[in-house]
Amino acid sequence: MSRLPKPPEGSWTQHYGLGTAPVSYEDSISPEFHALEAEAVFKRAWLNVGRIEQLPRKGSYFTKEITVANTSVIVVRDQQGEIRAFHNVCRHRGNKLVWNDFPRDETSGVCRQFVCKYHGWRYDLDGALNFVQQEEEFFDLDKAQFGLVPVHCDLWEGFIFVNLAKEPAQSLKAFLGPMVTALEGYPFDQMTERWFYRGPVGANWKLYMDAFQEFYHAPVLHARQSPPDWSVPAQNAGFEAPYYKIEGPHRVVSTAGIRPWELGENQRKPMEAVTRSGLFGPWDKPELGVEMPPGLNPSRANPWGLDSFQIWPNFVILIWGQHWYLTYHYWPTAYNSHMFEGTLYFVPAKTARERIAHEMAAVSFKEFGLQDANTLEATQTMLESRVVTEFPLMDQEVLCRHLHKVAAEWVNDYVAGQPGLNNEGVRV
Ligand code: FES
Ligand SMILES: [Fe+2]
Repeated sequence: MSRLPKPPEGSWTQHYGLGTAPVSYEDSISPEFHALEAEAVFKRAWLNVGRIEQLPRKGSYFTKEITVANTSVIVVRDQQGEIRAFHNVCRHRGNKLVWNDFPRDETSGVCRQFVCKYHGWRYDLDGALNFVQQEEEFFDLDKAQFGLVPVHCDLWEGFIFVNLAKEPAQSLKAFLGPMVTALEGYPFDQMTERWFYRGPVGANWKLYMDAFQEFYHAPVLHARQSPPDWSVPAQNAGFEAPYYKIEGPHRVVSTAGIRPWELGENQRKPMEAVTRSGLFGPWDKPELGVEMPPGLNPSRANPWGLDSFQIWPNFVILIWGQHWYLTYHYWPTAYNSHMFEGTLYFVPAKTARERIAHEMAAVSFKEFGLQDANTLEATQTMLESRVVTEFPLMDQEVLCRHLHKVAAEWVNDYVAGQPGLNNEGVRV
């Protein structure tokens, strides 16, 4: 199988001018850095909160807990069909407006208006306050002044983004930049069968992103997940030399394809042969009837395996050559924990065989993800010992190096604009 090209300078890390010195992981173990990241990153960047298919009709809504920014957001399709977002807080006495049995759990549904559970204030889907219980007993209350607090919200290719800044520094499209927007035209809208996992992870959010931005740990960490000979074809298949692209705060890693159906019996599990599916997805590709957009498969690998777009700060779109895709979200909950969400999207199954192939891909993904997450908790605890403070990264860890650099840049930029704060977030 052909090797993917190296950049002219001989290493990706030097090509992208990232330096080759060992790196510190203080940014993943410091409560002070985490507090700064909340302000500098999560309250200023565009954050993906879901897909348009989650809001199929007028009145469809879902809530998104954004713990790191200390808020919860309602995303709704209003009576005009517009997608809007609001802070999930009642203007009367601050109750969370939309929730079900447990106030901290996310929820979704369809409604005509939002009604507060506390004293029954009601809001239209466009956020306007339309009813106040015993309104005549209030003092000069002007309902027009008490609508829901809006959150900036925009759509790109059916992905719904919010921005918690008062005024975002950039439009969503400018923020995504040419490398990500070169995916426009990919048939995301055909892949509406959705499988969703969520789980708390006892590690900083950036550590889990790192685990999915290099692939050479796979034959080691996931060795027991696979038949005995699996690591041999993995090394020959291009994992040892993927293709990387970095633009602004965003990154792509791309690999050549493994064709599990061409592997020997001892290189795949019997269940994979029976279901014609596995970690790499269903072996049989659906017809899409559209050209692939120019931003996909940037190295023009043939066969092409996947492109993983790491969209700053915490969102990944991973598109497989086999015509399906994954998204990952990493929502920080503390300096040493986050909520991981993995979602698989397929063209809806038309046969029982296709349905089983999707399920096999979904459970295989979950098994691998659990192994990665488990290791991260082990990493977090020992990083926190601070016995070792500098770590060497090799060239295939170029995107890990870039992620931590971008986090530092956003925090430094924020601190520079905040006189009186040093870069530990301490007032001076
Ligand atoms: S807090 Fe919502 S109606 Fe009183
Ligand atoms: Fe992994």
